[in-house]
Amino acid sequence: MRLLGKVAVVTGGAKGLGQAMSELFADQGAKVIAVDMMPLTYEHKNVEFYQLNVADSHAVNEFVEKAIATHERIDILVNNAGITRDAMTRKMTDEQFDLVISVNLKGVFNMTRAIGPLMETNNYGSIINISSVVGVYGNIGQANYAASKAGIIGLTKTWAKEFARKGANVRCNAIAPGYIMTDILKTVPDELLKRFADLTMLKRLGEPHEIAYATLYLASEESSYVTGHVLEVNGGMRL
Ligand SMILES: NC(=O)c1ccc[n+]([C@@H]2O[C@H](COP(=O)([O-])OP(=O)(O)OC[C@H]3O[C@@H](n4cnc5c(N)ncnc54)[C@H](O)[C@@H]3O)[C@@H](O)[C@H]2O)c1
Repeated sequence: MRLLGKVAVVTGGAKGLGQAMSELFADQGAKVIAVDMMPLTYEHKNVEFYQLNVADSHAVNEFVEKAIATHERIDILVNNAGITRDAMTRKMTDEQFDLVISVNLKGVFNMTRAIGPLMETNNYGSIINISSVVGVYGNIGQANYAASKAGIIGLTKTWAKEFARKGANVRCNAIAPGYIMTDILKTVPDELLKRFADLTMLKRLGEPHEIAYATLYLASEESSYVTGHVLEVNGGMRL
């Protein structure tokens, strides 16, 4: 019960990595609010659903007001919602670029702008931003996604300083996962996935629970002296 009594918000919590995190946090005693555009693909007695587009700042502020009215505080925020719209740079449309930035980067900003200051006031909080191996090393055909995930690392380091500047016990870290078997990889051809597996030291792709456990560490008190850090969880991959 490493999160007993804590209130956690997980964006993109309906499936994939967000599902694995929400279920694990809930198993560890947290009350979890899984926010997503689509309904949950699972049921857990400690996980409640709220429909939200993280790119919509008004809707985000409304959500946070309601969550505070019901739960009084938010202790853990996992900014996990994310999308891809891949294309080579010369073919990438304005729409593809702007959509990925608005969900993956502005969405993270919207959520943290609404929740981070409340954590500072409560003198307690852990913010975990889900970046990517692509944000650290770049990747062909993913200029929009790489920019959004690299931007998340800048936000993480900024918030680690900003929310703790008056001495509040608020931490902010990022996780940069490698390739993990979820729906987001549906459009990646099998031969490319095999190549990605070969690029890892462990010679395999990751499983959602392997990211969820890293997130649990950063959410819990076990990481109480860790902030401003980017934790790479990628089987030793270098792109
Ligand atoms: N799976 C991987 O290999 C991998 C690797 C590195 C980073 N990531 C990152 O991990 C996060 C989770 O990815 P996943 O693999 O579970 O993908 P996924 O597609 O299975 O799940 C993403 C979830 O985010 C939700 N979502 C999308 N846009 C949203 C919005 N505007 N508002 C609220 N919710 C929204 C989707 O409905 C979905 O439930 C993403 O940020 C992704 O970029 C994934």
